[in-house]
Amino acid sequence: MLELSNMNELIDTLICTDKANKVLAESYAKALSVPFCEIDSSSEFSSKAFAKILSEKTSKDCVLLMDEGGLHLQILHPSVFKIQVNFVSSQMEYRRTKGGGRNQLIAKAVGIKPNVFPVVIDATAGLGKDAFMLASLGCHVTMVERNPCVRTLLEDGLRRANKVAEKNSELKIILERLKLVSGDAKELFESQLIESAEVIYLDPMFPHPEKRALVKKDMQMLQFLVGEDEDAECLLESALSTKVGRVVVKRPRTDEAIAPEQASYVLEGKRNRYDIYLHSSKS
Ligand SMILES: C[S@@+](CC[C@H](N)C(=O)[O-])C[C@H]1O[C@@H](n2cnc3c(N)ncnc32)[C@H](O)[C@@H]1O
Repeated sequence: MLELSNMNELIDTLICTDKANKVLAESYAKALSVPFCEIDSSSEFSSKAFAKILSEKTSKDCVLLMDEGGLHLQILHPSVFKIQVNFVSSQMEYRRTKGGGRNQLIAKAVGIKPNVFPVVIDATAGLGKDAFMLASLGCHVTMVERNPCVRTLLEDGLRRANKVAEKNSELKIILERLKLVSGDAKELFESQLIESAEVIYLDPMFPHPEKRALVKKDMQMLQFLVGEDEDAECLLESALSTKVGRVVVKRPRTDEAIAPEQASYVLEGKRNRYDIYLHSSKS
């Protein structure tokens, strides 16, 4: 797992502007071993002016920010941009309700069929979008994330979504299918976690900086935090060495496969493709 000390080379402060969630924000800061700082945001600031105030509290290019919208990674340099895990954003709602349901490539890639909803380990959870989509299609999904900061963003995203779900039974059912586990998936593949899994889903970070323009902005910003997943080939090999019968790798459409092993078949979309490795002898 990424050491907290490595993470702290990128982030050295968690700033809270939301009095109501001060205790929670402090607990996140403590768990991540980053200093906590509270600022009064009662005055109206432009986002530029606010970024300047935040910049004065850190020597790094980003901070963790707990505001009324929850926990964010606030990038301050080279551009001002925030990312967070938001399972109930309008974008997620649109993808869930109008994104094509079981006809989406991701559904076909993991093997969803009428009344067949495989149990999935999403070994590269990131901002949880793919995991949430699979859960909304009916799969039970264990999200594994090794970056402590991303894992905390996921934890906070689940907390906020669960609040919304108190008044939304459909969302509640979806969230009940999602579980978050912290750690390096390569190590967790050797644990009990793997016992009930039918699919391992991998979406390692896009490797080539020169192709970053092809990736959505939030993924570019996430890359700022987690870097490149240089051990992606190793992760795939570990996944293939488990008894799980189906391993799915999401890749940019035109990119090479992450390992020399030949995929059993490939599903290709406009931007992405899914390399599917089947191990019938193991399933
Ligand atoms: C491209 S992002 C995944 C995006 C995700 N599919 C989504 O829909 O938001 C890759 C994430 O996988 C995590 N990751 C990469 N290798 C991992 C491993 N071996 N174990 C756990 N997490 C890993 C990275 O820290 C990063 O957050």
